[in-house]
Amino acid sequence: MSTVCVIGSGYVGLTTAACFAHVGHTVVCTDIDEARIARLNGGECPILEQGLDNLLREGLAGGRLRFVAGNAAAAEAEFVYLCVPTPQGADGSADLSFIEAAAAEIGPILAPDTVVINKSTVPVGSTRVVERVLGRSDVHVVSNPEFLREGTAVHDFLNPDRIVIGADDQSAAVRVASLYLGIAAPLIVTDPASAETIKYAANAFLATKISFANAVAAVCEAVGADIGDVVLGMGYDRRIGSEFLRPGPGWGGSCFPKDSRALVHIAETAGYDFGLLKGVITVNDEQFERVAAKVVDAAGGSVEGVKVAAWGLTFKARTDDLRDSPALAIIDRLRAAGARVVAYDPSIEEGGVPAGDKRAALLDGIEVAADPYAACEGAEALVVLTEWDEFRWLDFDKVAEVMAGKRVVDARNLLDREALRRRGFSYAGVGRV
Ligand code: UDX
Repeated sequence: MSTVCVIGSGYVGLTTAACFAHVGHTVVCTDIDEARIARLNGGECPILEQGLDNLLREGLAGGRLRFVAGNAAAAEAEFVYLCVPTPQGADGSADLSFIEAAAAEIGPILAPDTVVINKSTVPVGSTRVVERVLGRSDVHVVSNPEFLREGTAVHDFLNPDRIVIGADDQSAAVRVASLYLGIAAPLIVTDPASAETIKYAANAFLATKISFANAVAAVCEAVGADIGDVVLGMGYDRRIGSEFLRPGPGWGGSCFPKDSRALVHIAETAGYDFGLLKGVITVNDEQFERVAAKVVDAAGGSVEGVKVAAWGLTFKARTDDLRDSPALAIIDRLRAAGARVVAYDPSIEEGGVPAGDKRAALLDGIEVAADPYAACEGAEALVVLTEWDEFRWLDFDKVAEVMAGKRVVDARNLLDREALRRRGFSYAGVGRV
């Protein structure tokens, strides 16, 4: 068993810390935010992530997991994971200032032979940047990218499709591999630049699959085909696979938008014009426009002064994350066209998030209703933006009763269109009539 220090208690850091404690290591997780550390030590899980609260409590109770403010604890660890944010800079590049600040702080205090691991999504070449900032020839720097999906991060950590380790030093790579005790997965040991590229390329490819499905959905609408059957028929081809071919309002979240732009920037800096990936991003921006246009059409050509109900605000279901949410991008467009949008989301309370919550600014100007029916009261049109399962099982007679106009735009192809049409609704999905 090893001693691990995880710097950063965001969703990657927290999941990494709790899962390493779960497999038996002694883990200390740090953050600059003292209030967050106090809440974590009290067993309070600050993010909605299936299974994470149980692992937190298990780790705290067993004494294998603790949280401390500041980064001094790195001095006691054999392994130090850097899990700090890499936000998008103004030019699309990833901003490394948090990683550099953490590395500068721990450089002088690390014990000889410590392995420092980049887990944040970092531009190709960042392993070298960390090495330089640490300034320690007796410390190893390794890249070990994460492939965690929000909502299933714990499951993804403990049941990965693969573990990728990028290191110049084989013995450091083997030491990092040994942390994944009892976790069976193909292990890829490579150089740091390749490991960093794997992470970007994997996310960009998944975004490409979704944009491809959304583009084919547009073709389906034009030729009268059904995207549901088309992706089913494509997905059975094992070379294609059925995952990440679900059409929708466009992709979003904390990773795909930021990482795809960063990869375009990395390529550009290296002298390659990644036109394909630029196209993938353009298709995604167009998808927001296409969905907003469907709502305008449903409302009879204009939403000026029209009340529109929106179901779903988060970037996908089973998370409370609003960062780069396609739902918000579409609502913004509707509001810019003059609509009054009243939304409902199972993860957001009536009236929105409390003041001081980081997400408050994102909800500026959007009314948040207490339940899906209240959002629909007096609305001319309803748009479904996030695929929360509970939306399928609502009482659509009641929805019909409270709405002023019976019009539904289903950007997730979630609802039973026949059942809606039987009730007199007009229905527009994505890539199907
Ligand atoms: C993603 C990657 O999956 C993960 O491996 C990486 O480490 C972080 O980024 P996450 O951001 O949690 O994870 O979201 P994901 O489940 O991948 O969905 C991303 C976006 O694509 C969401 O907006 C989702 O609604 C959309 N999506 C996904 C589709 O529109 N269609 C699909 O078929 C799949």
